[in-house]
Amino acid sequence: MHMEIPRLPVDFMNDDHDHAAEQLEAMLAALPAYPADGATLAQACRAFLDHNREHFGREEVAMQATGFPPYPVHKNEHERALDWLAGLTAGIAAGSADPAMVVRVIGQEIPAWFIQHIQTMDWATANWIASH
Ligand SMILES: [Fe+2]
Repeated sequence: MHMEIPRLPVDFMNDDHDHAAEQLEAMLAALPAYPADGATLAQACRAFLDHNREHFGREEVAMQATGFPPYPVHKNEHERALDWLAGLTAGIAAGSADPAMVVRVIGQEIPAWFIQHIQTMDWATANWIASH
């Protein structure tokens, strides 16, 4: 799977997004082995979750430092995404997550969310940060 990641005018955001895309590739690679091998996929999901938590934190610091007006909206979306990813990761680690749901979420929903988040919230945020 090749993802076309939109470029933003803030370097750390691009670097973080490239790293997240590599981690998503690792999740996709581990997907066919679930649920027989849930540990490898759970580990890949945890790495993606941890990276996103750190990345969101960096964005939030930059938004606050530049007084980005819709900061609460973007931060809420980060929290919603972290809850979503944490729930998925816990279900995979426990082996209780339905395999068809896992394929749908990792194969389609997370990649779609990732690109959409960059094109909307991150795009607006990056342009604000770059000009303030
Ligand atoms: Fe973001």
